Amino acid sequence: MLTCTATIDPAFTVAPVPPRLFGSFIEHMGRCVYGGVYEPGHPEADVDGLRADVVKLTRELGVTAVRYPGGNFVSGYRWEDGVGPVEQRPQTLDLAWRSVEPNTFGLNEFMTWARQTDIEPIMAVNLGTRGVEDACNLLEYANFPGGTRWSDLRIAHGVREPHRIRTWCLGNEMDGPWQIGQKTATEYGRLAAETGKAMRRIDPSIELVACGSSNERMPTFGSWEAQVLDEAYDVVDYISLHAYFEQHGDDRVGFLASAQVMDSFIEGVVATCDHIGAKRRSRRKLNLSFDEWNLWYESRFAGQDNLDWARAPRLIEDEYTVEDAVVLGNLLMSLLRHSDRVTIACLAQLVNVIAPIRTEPDTGAWRQTIFYPFALTARHARGEVLRVEPVSPMLHSATLGDVAAVDVAATRDPETGETTIFAVNRDDRQAATLQLRLAGDHEVVEHVVLGGQDLLATNSKSAPRRVEPRTSTRHFVEPSSLSAELPPVSWSMIRTAPRASVAG
Ligand code: AHR
Repeated sequence: MLTCTATIDPAFTVAPVPPRLFGSFIEHMGRCVYGGVYEPGHPEADVDGLRADVVKLTRELGVTAVRYPGGNFVSGYRWEDGVGPVEQRPQTLDLAWRSVEPNTFGLNEFMTWARQTDIEPIMAVNLGTRGVEDACNLLEYANFPGGTRWSDLRIAHGVREPHRIRTWCLGNEMDGPWQIGQKTATEYGRLAAETGKAMRRIDPSIELVACGSSNERMPTFGSWEAQVLDEAYDVVDYISLHAYFEQHGDDRVGFLASAQVMDSFIEGVVATCDHIGAKRRSRRKLNLSFDEWNLWYESRFAGQDNLDWARAPRLIEDEYTVEDAVVLGNLLMSLLRHSDRVTIACLAQLVNVIAPIRTEPDTGAWRQTIFYPFALTARHARGEVLRVEPVSPMLHSATLGDVAAVDVAATRDPETGETTIFAVNRDDRQAATLQLRLAGDHEVVEHVVLGGQDLLATNSKSAPRRVEPRTSTRHFVEPSSLSAELPPVSWSMIRTAPRASVAG
């Protein structure tokens, strides 16, 4: 049995839990939109073709914000093709995913769905094949009250009130060789700055997100962010991060410690932002939008160039295991402990495409394993994130070197006094005793565990509830601490409350 200690004191806080940390992402890709959120004719579809079962699970997942419409898709997208009378919309080619795009779902359908799910929209503009003028036209259509060409077109399309979309992403992964309209850092930085400047003239209340590197492994990671921000620092509010995790080779420990990679990625981007800010003697601090993150068995993906043209093809519908869910829960812990700077994060994607929610045409939607740690964290990470420095034995990873066997994060709700502890045991042979030194007299009100057994189990159409989190009673109060047992390869959520308030 391993032993790990974590001292948790409400005096040491990181930041309030950012509401948009529990965002997600809908891209016109595979069956995320068509056959996912939108499937006219399905028994669950409403009059607008929106699947009620997907709406229900999106709400249960606790998603607060959704980025749309891409992703790589946005870099070739003409948003005008997706508005107005549906029968007049063209069928087009999506070069990003070699898919046939029917355009029957567009901005206004997305906003109807956003109201049903009570999420905040985050919109991306095309800076791949398009530029300043088209981004401005889209913003005018979406946010301008009326009396102008594009705002009146929205009203003519039956949407009288402006959508008032607050957050706008300036393109997507513009450093990627796979991106339609890839740019150099300086080209993109200039374009992002000029586009953002013009968009702000239309609506000064908007927030802007510049594209950071497509991932931390890009050869230009670090210098891309610095060069882009040299051009755009004063215009944008956020820089984006994207990361997808999978096991590489035999390094299972490295996979289980993916949160450590996320930690250092975030800290590297914060350092780069602050370096540019310091050079400019700027008083502004940029925040980070981790607007694509998840697990993705990317090495199994054939690649965009090898796809056959199809409408809503089955693309990267990865089936997640219990072990994947443990890693995902740990990634959320990384986001939480950086919530002083990461204030937007989007689990990519929401439905079918590397997603927590799955659908098929002939049955109701179901939850993948990764649904559970996300939903539980979104529901119970309330109030403020606390600074925790766990003391843990180490494991060895071939790619990462020494990594902590046990990782811990915590939040505290000042209104209820409840402290919620999130913990992961990455050791695959030994359970761990987590000794929690909490200021005050607390007791456990709920201890939920995912993992520890059946690590390769998945949920599927035929067995949609095979995997579910289970309640644990493996915790006990000692004179100076509260201890909980963490099974090998497991994620735990331990909710504690001041003893007096439990009794009263
Ligand atoms: O989420 C799938 C793809 O991953 C997105 O389109 C792109 O932005 C990223 O590379």
